[in-house]
Amino acid sequence: MGADRLLRLLGDGAWRSGEEIAGELGVTRAAVWKAVERLRRQGYAIDAAAGRGYRLAGTTDRLLPGEIRPAVEPRRLRGPVVHRDVVDSTNRLAIDLARDGAEEGTAVVAEEQTAGRGRLGRTWESPPRLNLYLSVVLRPPMPPVDVPLLALVAAVAVAEAIAAETGLRAEIKWPNDVLLGGRKAAGILTELEAEADRVRFVVLGIGVNLNAGRDDLPPELRDKATSLARECGRPVDRAGFTARLLERLDADYDELLAAGFTGLRRRYEERHALTGRWVAVEGARRIEGEVRGIDADGALLVETTAGVERVLSGEVTLAGAYRGG
Ligand code: BTN
Repeated sequence: MGADRLLRLLGDGAWRSGEEIAGELGVTRAAVWKAVERLRRQGYAIDAAAGRGYRLAGTTDRLLPGEIRPAVEPRRLRGPVVHRDVVDSTNRLAIDLARDGAEEGTAVVAEEQTAGRGRLGRTWESPPRLNLYLSVVLRPPMPPVDVPLLALVAAVAVAEAIAAETGLRAEIKWPNDVLLGGRKAAGILTELEAEADRVRFVVLGIGVNLNAGRDDLPPELRDKATSLARECGRPVDRAGFTARLLERLDADYDELLAAGFTGLRRRYEERHALTGRWVAVEGARRIEGEVRGIDADGALLVETTAGVERVLSGEVTLAGAYRGG
């Protein structure tokens, strides 16, 4: 018997006798007991009492697949959720699964990463059980040149999920950092495997600092990075947040493929922290100027003394509220 069927049955927290469960699921009472044991090993707190039966005493604040329940049927991201207590990098594992044929929407979540990857060859701080480390396998029917748009769309989904969770204004720093109060709360790393004109798969890696406190971060990041809990003053339900984020990613990915970037670009620009700001961009060469926005391809538009330049990649810095990272 699948432990997930038992979990659904016990989901309301009410007592249910072993006999009643066995009858509803069409299994023996011994099979019910085995499933209870399996769930307990996964970390669920299940009470058992003679004469009353079993009840789910509470969730465990682990990112278990059974806890990450989307409220709506996904449009495109239908794959399973794969959970690990510890992994080097959820992106690395998702890439391996994608190479082995994992279906679109396969999501890898971990409680802890020992070698979390950041953009530009950096590492991503990944302390255990506090934050979200998520990688989603995508198989977009688009040419490789359009793939950078996926990271911008993901930034919109992450920023809107954070705003909905905290009630605070979440901003995006091009291309895809998400900020709260000028500090980085989430980062996105897309990794791609493609032929010349066809994407095999993209792994969309998302790290969101949910419940990490100031002291959970190394000293050099304490002022540059923040977490949702730090900004809104209460802990965040990690599994609930993850389910809601996956719903938004599914809807926004569907919109990109069905209707293009126009509507998403507007939503991106509404949250863009850099528009109107004076920035320096370190890329193939260094430029300085005032940000005008992004274009239909997701490039950053910077007005310099030589005219408006399109920036496709690079590290952007500015003087003022945002302190880098
Ligand atoms: C950045 O540098 O801003 C991007 C950080 C991306 C971190 C996430 S955490 C989940 C996924 N697995 C990784 O190894 N990295 C991404």
